Amino acid sequence: MRLLITGGCGFIGSTFIKHIIRKYNDYSIINLDLVTYAGNLENLDQIKNHPKYTFVKGDIADENLVKEITRNVDAVINFAAESHVDRSIEGPSVFIRTNVLGTQVLLESAKENKVQRFIQISTDEVYGSLGPEGYFRENSPLLPNSPYSASKAGADLIVRSYFETYKFPSVITRCSNNYGSNQFPEKFIPLLITNAFEDKEVPVYGDGLNVRDWIHVKDHCKAIDAVLHKGKVGETYNIGGNCEKRNIDIAKLILKKMGKDESLIRFVKDRPGHDRRYAIDASRIRKELGWSPEYNFDQGISETIKWYDENRSWWLKIKSGEYMKYYERMYGNR
Ligand code: NAD
Ligand code: DAU
Repeated sequence: MRLLITGGCGFIGSTFIKHIIRKYNDYSIINLDLVTYAGNLENLDQIKNHPKYTFVKGDIADENLVKEITRNVDAVINFAAESHVDRSIEGPSVFIRTNVLGTQVLLESAKENKVQRFIQISTDEVYGSLGPEGYFRENSPLLPNSPYSASKAGADLIVRSYFETYKFPSVITRCSNNYGSNQFPEKFIPLLITNAFEDKEVPVYGDGLNVRDWIHVKDHCKAIDAVLHKGKVGETYNIGGNCEKRNIDIAKLILKKMGKDESLIRFVKDRPGHDRRYAIDASRIRKELGWSPEYNFDQGISETIKWYDENRSWWLKIKSGEYMKYYERMYGNR
């Protein structure tokens, strides 16, 4: 298979590329990535010289480039996105441009070039927020609450329309919160771990009782592999680790594992529109495609802490650059 993977320099896309290269030695991969603040070529150091791997620096919203690049591929897997909720609250425009317009540009070129499969990597956040009971199912209403999740929901609806209108062979996946190595330290778990290594306060929003359903990034990538090979076109697949945790419990667990004191926790002003609880019903992908997550959260978190410990130069480089300005804006007066 010839795959076009967009956003392959980010957290999940780079993990997926490494998964595919290791597992299918006859597949070729083009990675199209704009290398925004979140993209990092170091994430792909291990495979950058692989004969089946090609990197193209570019924008998914660039029509000419995307038309050219989709010419000889069998499948497109669209990871490229602006992905951080807090940044979408600060500045929504780039989220609409990349996540909505970029997806449509990619879809249109893939349709023109008769690409056989298009996988849209979406998110459980499109469903909005749950109360204490219940789960997100594939037919739950789309009720996004942040500019980020609204942009992802917009993209999902365009993908759906290409299937319904043009019979374009697209599939949507909606996964819950990922954790693991190479995650940019603006996200909760790597922010906690890296701040704790530096004995800095760890900010917990609001009362710390918001719940997320965590999955290891490698389990997510195996699910996307299953969807690529066995998923039904026109279908949506929820992906989740069946692992609900309150933020405060994650902060305490990580600090304990790292031998740090809970006094590092600082409760800060809540995120506006902060979704209370996410929980995924992943029974469709489990039953129909035979996928199930393998990681246990405790083991996965220990491995993740170890990775950030052994790869300090990776995150110290990030944290000493532009990131500090963002951190100051986001947390300085909170
Ligand atoms: P990330 O922010 O780590 O990576 C995003 C990548 O996209 C970066 O490499 C960036 O350079 C690239 N990119 C951004 N704009 C681009 C553009 N216009 N053209 C080309 N490339 C561009 O994100 P992630 O956490 O790896 O998430 C990947 C995808 O998975 C996103 O679509 C996100 O919505 C979805 N998702 C993420 C999670 C999660 O927990 N992180 C969960 C479910 C779904
Ligand atoms: O559910 C899937 C989504 O998960 C993905 O679509 C997004 O791309 C990804 O960023 C993630 O969104 P969240 O908003 O859930 O992740 P984040 O890591 O930003 O926050 C996780 C929880 O921790 C959330 O309830 C907010 C809280 N939080 C976050 C940060 C950054 C804090 O309490 N303190 C923090 O400093």
